[in-house]
Amino acid sequence: MFNILKKEELSDQITLFEIGARDIAKKAKPGNFFILRTHEQGERVPLTIADFDRDRGTITAVFQKVGRATHHLGTLNEGDFITDVVGPLGNHSHIANFGRVVCVGGGVGIAPVYPVAKALSEAGNNVTSIIGARSKSILFWEEKMRNVSDELIITTDDGSYGTKAVVTAPLEDILLNEKIDLVIAIGPAVMMKFVCKTTEKYGVKTIVSLNSIMIDGTGMCGGCRVEIGGEIKYTCVDGPEFNGHEVDFDLLMNRLQGYIDEERIAMKQVRVCGGKNYGIKDN
Ligand code: NAD
Ligand code: FES
Repeated sequence: MFNILKKEELSDQITLFEIGARDIAKKAKPGNFFILRTHEQGERVPLTIADFDRDRGTITAVFQKVGRATHHLGTLNEGDFITDVVGPLGNHSHIANFGRVVCVGGGVGIAPVYPVAKALSEAGNNVTSIIGARSKSILFWEEKMRNVSDELIITTDDGSYGTKAVVTAPLEDILLNEKIDLVIAIGPAVMMKFVCKTTEKYGVKTIVSLNSIMIDGTGMCGGCRVEIGGEIKYTCVDGPEFNGHEVDFDLLMNRLQGYIDEERIAMKQVRVCGGKNYGIKDN
């Protein structure tokens, strides 16, 4: 059983939990993910680690209430227990001194990009971060991102804060004017697709963290399969980070849309469906 030590509502849709999980915190690295279940019959919810504190023995989860499992997760409070948390899973981010790096976080993707930006900064890189949200009310972690970045650029789709733009607009400005060694992008699949289309024009290596459907998280079920450079890969064991220029984003988005349509139908039903046991890696 894993204790929720802190709960914070980052917006009306986005919740943060700090969870006591000493063994996971000990081994966690930026880029890893974990899978949790709120109860024995619960869906598995895969989440990329948003932060961890080895001394306190905690990991931080930031999730958006999009489906049944995450809505239920959001009803838990400080002091409640989560039945299972398994991790760290997946490959951690490759951290080195690359030089001049741009970290892009879109929406809930700001949470998992934070530990990567922090580690890259600690490794000596010059880090520019671009964080974007639809609106000011759902933008979070501005100060945290500022603290680990040499420069922070904020965009909102509606112009309620920062520059009125999507994240690819300031990214293109930077690429036009400077030599960038690496771009890391985490957010909705469509955002990562367009970040990659932008960086491809300038020949800048781009790493993305994929949010595919996951079931077991150990490479056994095939649920998280994606196509990378024409080859089938499994996000849970081969990723979650991949070279963005090789990702078949249209296939990923089609598979995600199928899941989202099913969840919408299920959310509309009055009865609670048991027996389903999968989720989208949310952040
Ligand atoms: P959102 O739709 O509000 O988009 C966030 C930002 O991404 C926008 O403000 C914009 O700046 C940028 N963006 C969106 N579409 C774009 C486009 N076509 N071109 C350029 N930039 C674009 O994001 P949200 O509602 O927070 O995201 C929800 C989705 O993100 C969920 O499906 C979730 O699974 C996924 N997600 C994925 C990861 C991951 O690990 N890859 C992490 C967190 C969330
Ligand atoms: Fe089952 Fe990856 S989640 S193979």
